[in-house]
Amino acid sequence: MSGSLIHPASAEGSLSRPVTVPQVRAAKVSTGAAPMVMVTAYDAPGARMADAAGVDMILVGDSVAMVVLGYDDTLQVTIDDMAHHVAAVARAKPQALIVGDLPWMSYHVSAGDTVKNAATLIRAGAQCVKLEGGRKRVPMIEAIVDAEIPVMGHIGLTPQSMHAMGGFRVQGRESEAAQRLVADAKALQHAGCFAMVIEGVPDQVAAMITDSLDVPTIGIGAGARCDGQVLVMHDLLGIEDRIAPKFVRRYADVRGTSIEAIAAFAADVRGGSFPAETESYHLTAEQAEAMALYGGPAR
Ligand code: KIV
Repeated sequence: MSGSLIHPASAEGSLSRPVTVPQVRAAKVSTGAAPMVMVTAYDAPGARMADAAGVDMILVGDSVAMVVLGYDDTLQVTIDDMAHHVAAVARAKPQALIVGDLPWMSYHVSAGDTVKNAATLIRAGAQCVKLEGGRKRVPMIEAIVDAEIPVMGHIGLTPQSMHAMGGFRVQGRESEAAQRLVADAKALQHAGCFAMVIEGVPDQVAAMITDSLDVPTIGIGAGARCDGQVLVMHDLLGIEDRIAPKFVRRYADVRGTSIEAIAAFAADVRGGSFPAETESYHLTAEQAEAMALYGGPAR
């Protein structure tokens, strides 16, 4: 089994381990770097799998709300929920960089509370934090960076703004909106972001943003011309199959395989073939005999 695992250090094109913020910051495709890979994980087994596959970054995303906790949007998770999941991922001690996602209303507060919330994720084991939004987030980004906490930006379709945006809608389709995104990206870079997620924008606009920045971009639903790509683990593994956005490529059918396996277990229990002798503990002959003396089973 373990022979089929990719050793992190040998994954083709991956950053050297352990992955650090300065390494990520320097990884622009335009300067010859390979596109970086980020996946979400929310617990220790997920982090171990992602790390064994050789990803560069593990995002403990607020998508945990939807793909793990059963909510309809990401607005329901708190900083304490996120710290709980960051800590679970950190206990796996991955070599990939751990990015802790700041949830809604954790950085829409005072600068002091914002830094405290970012520090909560760092103390839980993240090496940097991510937050959503354009230039209006600059003061909070500066405050967090000033506390020596690296910040990853997130622009375009920002799910925490779903009500303001009128749903999950592709952003930057008109030229003015596209220019605004470029200006937002530059403002975030200037404020100190070391990298930026671009979500749900036309690929030409993502390319414009990528070309206008010195820091790398990581796309999701933003085409191929970013400096890296991110997917939600439950989407790419086919664990979450209710929503299938256009940008998701499914690499496995873990839900289907899991249902088959659980149904096979149920059939074996109901048919009496589980557990087998080899799956049970047995007394030695002497123990069984001694127990029979006291009226116990002698089998
Ligand atoms: O929470 C998340 O999973 C994210 C990604 C979609 C980038 O923010």
